[in-house]
Amino acid sequence: MMRLAGKTALITGAARGIGLAFAKAYVAEGARVAIADIDAAQARDAAAEIGDAAKAVEMDVTSQSSIDDAIGHISAHFGPIDILVNNAAIFTAAPITEIARKDYSRVFDINVAGTLFTMQAVARHMIEHGIQGRIINMASQAGRRGEPLVAVYCASKAAVISLTQSAGLNLIQHGINVNAISPGVVDGEHWDGVDAFFAKYEGKAPGQKKREVAAAVPYGRMGRTDDLTGMAVFLASDEAKYIVAQTYNVDGGNWMN
Ligand SMILES: NC(=O)c1ccc[n+]([C@@H]2O[C@H](COP(=O)([O-])OP(=O)(O)OC[C@H]3O[C@@H](n4cnc5c(N)ncnc54)[C@H](O)[C@@H]3O)[C@@H](O)[C@H]2O)c1
Repeated sequence: MMRLAGKTALITGAARGIGLAFAKAYVAEGARVAIADIDAAQARDAAAEIGDAAKAVEMDVTSQSSIDDAIGHISAHFGPIDILVNNAAIFTAAPITEIARKDYSRVFDINVAGTLFTMQAVARHMIEHGIQGRIINMASQAGRRGEPLVAVYCASKAAVISLTQSAGLNLIQHGINVNAISPGVVDGEHWDGVDAFFAKYEGKAPGQKKREVAAAVPYGRMGRTDDLTGMAVFLASDEAKYIVAQTYNVDGGNWMN
């Protein structure tokens, strides 16, 4: 029996990386998935690769009208949304003395406000349709502690963990479970960008930061996107119905709470 048979999922930032891996895993478990991303062309390619169970939706999580339009398009195409994964996010790094206000605002607009207001819109939609749904937010080990060069991104992911707790406690009265996944270091285009920031600020050769973080993971390597799909399917499934407001580390042993 497929664990997400008949469910409709909206995954933000699903045109590549972790969100795309979740989309494929959800479809393999019987769901239909909206690949929602600000990069419409890449979202279309991703949906075409998956097939009819996937639909590309252009969506900018910083725009309320874009969020509302996306929910309308998805429910018209697939029916009401049962599962939301708030996965879209961006990374930035700089020493405290060099953080630019516009970078702070952009990161918080996407990672925090984007998560909150997509969650709000989808929760309203679920309540309106009587759906006892699932919301999964993407946190990070960066949200568990500060890092000298990563203040803004770390703070944004700490906010995601906190929002998950408050929303989880508030929405469970409607039968909507809100939880989060906290990855460690997952190789891919996101980490290509992180590596480039450390090359700039720590004078490292390209690829050196990746090798260092991989060597520090107790499991012995960086994560792969498919290391996270098991938790994403589980939290979206009926097996997780008694789990409320939690953030789960899936990080090869990097962090302990
Ligand atoms: N890769 C890692 O090591 C790692 C570690 C911890 C947490 N995470 C988190 O996991 C999630 C996915 O990470 P990833 O590595 O796949 O990242 P990624 O950068 O590969 O993908 C992010 C996607 O979000 C999209 N996006 C950006 N801004 C958007 C917006 N305004 N509206 C809609 N979509 C937008 C991008 O186009 C991209 O497709 C993120 O929340 C990230 O912070 C990643």
